[in-house]
Amino acid sequence: MAEQEESAALIARAAATHRLTEAELVQLLGDAAATEQLAAAADRVRHDYVGDGVHLRGLIEFSNICRQNCMYCGLRRDNGKTERYRLDAATIVELARKAKGYGYHTVVLQSGEDAYFTVPRLCAIIRDIKKLDMAITLSLGERPREEYAAFRAAGADRYLLRIETTDRDLYEKYDPGMSWANRDRCLRDLRELGYEVGTGTLVGLPGQTLAMLARDILYYQALDADMLGIGPLIPNGDTPLGTAKPGDFALTRRMVSLLRLLLPEANIPATTAMETMVPRGRELILASGANVVMPNVTEGDYRRKYALYPGKICVADTPADCRHCMGGRIKAMGRYVAEDKGFRRHRLCQG
Ligand code: 5AD
Ligand code: SF4
Ligand code: FES
Repeated sequence: MAEQEESAALIARAAATHRLTEAELVQLLGDAAATEQLAAAADRVRHDYVGDGVHLRGLIEFSNICRQNCMYCGLRRDNGKTERYRLDAATIVELARKAKGYGYHTVVLQSGEDAYFTVPRLCAIIRDIKKLDMAITLSLGERPREEYAAFRAAGADRYLLRIETTDRDLYEKYDPGMSWANRDRCLRDLRELGYEVGTGTLVGLPGQTLAMLARDILYYQALDADMLGIGPLIPNGDTPLGTAKPGDFALTRRMVSLLRLLLPEANIPATTAMETMVPRGRELILASGANVVMPNVTEGDYRRKYALYPGKICVADTPADCRHCMGGRIKAMGRYVAEDKGFRRHRLCQG
């Protein structure tokens, strides 16, 4: 069979059975000519499994202080150029209250690995936000199991922690001082504690192969991940990977589409990094399998200071701007903004 026919047959089979082998995934990840066909199949599966509603999650970037030193990230502790900040509890809760006013049903509390935010401090914030009847997603990095359990007991619903790559050597090379086994442990603990678990890949780490990306997808299937955030590496000049090649946008897009085919019920965001690379990139990804957008609800200059990579979008916009912008763009695509909390499955007790 010619490559074209072979890819078409694989895509049809994946859309029907939601299964592919590592070798089949490698073939599709590597077939640039199959990008549009993959996106169309993923868009149909997205429609059939999770519908046309797009879930908006309001992102609060509450501290850019981080004890880790990831080689690609602007928040790494050795980057002296980052102007560090930490919002206080009252400000964080107030941002969540305003997000509720804009019609968000979920807030994502995201930060570097900042030890100031101890269990008592975070649990008080979580409890206050829960009084607003919002779902809470945490994205604070690696913590001991007991801390995850305490956040869950205080009302946190979901947790985002990208594995970045399932290749242990590559992971430990670019996340120095961190252990892949511990990251994997965190994801399993979160799963056992009843969180909806989000993870994902950083596409374009130097040395990353298509086989590694294929194994990432199979790992997410085995973990039964609820959410999958995928983005291309955007080299940050203030980090050791500053002169690396940027991640390949079309490859990242194929990865999103394959994730939709293999994990049909998952919540998959069109990430900010996609739009930093390509104007209207989030629409393109929403039409290639994704069903979630996470507009920023942080206010003022903090948006600019939370700089993982250069060229971040919306740094001069307000939370109201982003809410209206995304609402309009979603409608223009013939989709709609979902009005529920956007859990992956219906749950009887949501605290
Ligand atoms: N380019 C793209 N994504 C990045 N991240 C961190 N630095 C970069 C970068 N330079 C991603 C990582 C991390 C998430 C919060 O941001 O995947 O998990
Ligand atoms: Fe810290 Fe996360 Fe950036 Fe790593 S990727 S330096 S853990 S904020
Ligand atoms: Fe921020 Fe469009 S999403 S202005």
